[in-house]
Amino acid sequence: MLITDDLMHQLVAAARQAREYAYAPYSRFAVGAALLDEQGRIHAGCNIENAAYPQGQCAEATAIGQLVLAGGTHILAAAVVGVAETPVTPCGGCRQRLREFAADELPIWSADLQRVSGRFTLGQLLPSSFGPQHLKP
Ligand code: THU
Repeated sequence: MLITDDLMHQLVAAARQAREYAYAPYSRFAVGAALLDEQGRIHAGCNIENAAYPQGQCAEATAIGQLVLAGGTHILAAAVVGVAETPVTPCGGCRQRLREFAADELPIWSADLQRVSGRFTLGQLLPSSFGPQHLKP
């Protein structure tokens, strides 16, 4: 599937929408994420915090859950939306979560409410990664 800039902007729009649902009463840092699956479908998620702080869930994890529940098996593109001075990129744990379903070439765009602030690949954010193929005999 050809990942066009137009498609990436659709992901950004979906992530911005999802961010509106963020449950982040503790950090007050709302995040939205959107993922493109191998069928061309977009799955979105927001962060979901918890009074027991370590139980909070990132937007990317929510979106991955949506993708898997819908029968998706591969992530072809991703967008993350948050408002900060520098681009909001997936946390270390979520880079690994994305890795499970994506290749090094996975494009990841960071955006705020106005503009796209960063364009990365998963390989740049998580180099020399451990993945499912390591467990294959
Ligand atoms: N967060 C995400 O949901 N995704 C990211 O990529 C970065 C951080 C959330 C976790 C927590 O709810 C809040 O942002 C502050 O760290």
